[in-house]
Amino acid sequence: MKKNIQLILAAACFSTLFVACNHASSTKNGSDKDSTAAQAPQIPDSANFKATVQGKQVDLYTLKNKNGVTVAITNFGGRLVSLLVPNKDGKLTDVILGHDSLSGYQIKAETYFGAIIGRYGNRIGKGKFNLDGKSYQLDLNDKINTLHGGFNGFYKQVFDAKKVGDQQLELTYVSKDGEGGYPGMLTSKITYTLTDDNALKIEYSATTDKATIVNLTNHAYFNLNGAGTPTITNDSLKIDADNITPVDTTLIPTGKFEKVKGTPFDFTSFKTIGADIDKTDDQLKAGKGYDHNFVLNKHDISQSIATVKSPETGIVMDIYTTEPGLQFYSGNFLTGLSDGKGKATYAHRSALCLETQHFPDSPNEPSFPSTVLKPGETYHTTTIYKFSVK
Ligand code: BGC
Repeated sequence: MKKNIQLILAAACFSTLFVACNHASSTKNGSDKDSTAAQAPQIPDSANFKATVQGKQVDLYTLKNKNGVTVAITNFGGRLVSLLVPNKDGKLTDVILGHDSLSGYQIKAETYFGAIIGRYGNRIGKGKFNLDGKSYQLDLNDKINTLHGGFNGFYKQVFDAKKVGDQQLELTYVSKDGEGGYPGMLTSKITYTLTDDNALKIEYSATTDKATIVNLTNHAYFNLNGAGTPTITNDSLKIDADNITPVDTTLIPTGKFEKVKGTPFDFTSFKTIGADIDKTDDQLKAGKGYDHNFVLNKHDISQSIATVKSPETGIVMDIYTTEPGLQFYSGNFLTGLSDGKGKATYAHRSALCLETQHFPDSPNEPSFPSTVLKPGETYHTTTIYKFSVK
């Protein structure tokens, strides 16, 4: 069967454009069950990811479930490169933004496409914090603040990778004592598991040899209409959060909690992302759109805390997490980057990030849930992105 399909594909390749040929060949390792696979978007060629970086082997790993859902992950930054899920017609759609090669990720590292973020997700005010009577200074990579771990956060590090069967990838990274200014040697393990009910489960764990702070997340940019399509503002979003942590003009939380009711931040029932995004509002002005931490009403892994729905593809994404917060970032700083997968251009607000996390700047806000990790303790959080159609 597989051989026949390969022959047919080869014949088709000769009679069609090179682009189409390239496309078809990328599916040769895919499902041989039906013709849907032949029309599926391609995952990048793994050869474009093979290199030695920081003395370690970088590669592209593929997970696939029984429904053909496919996830491509590189161990450079632990990044999700592609995520192919079925749309309402059963056709696979790539719902995350990324690049076709490792060099794309190295050149544009600071968009954080698909990356594991560590040691600390989001901002720490002025890059400073005190712990057990000592003060620490982190990299200032976001004007006067630290963002996403600093200049050499996990998004730029090479993880050790171990594939477990067809549907799981374990990534480990040991961050040295003092790396980026953070105390303690932090040993972190991130496990990506693709389940047969079309969910991508991400488990994060970490241990340290000195008291430190930690807040790990993933920075996937989702577009459920398909990566490279122009906007996410027509998608509907629901977030089970009655409050946000409002920010100052440098996007550092003020330490207060603000009720969403009656504001553009009310996503307690489905609303299109674009409905209020351009309203006059100090918080929207600070973020140039949504770029805020939502305080989740519940964070019990058995209940969805946020849902996005695409009216075009019918794809629905539900998020489950053990984390207390969710950073909703509406892709406000995407600027029409033109080296996306398949030469796509990623326009302003053509993707959204929903980063599960502890709150930004928690080390400086005693009223926020603690992000301190001590020797002998194990940090462990879980987040699930589950896909279905409506
Ligand atoms: C932050 C944004 C930032 C983006 C970087 C988000 O998590 O909240 O402010 O611009 O990451 O791509």
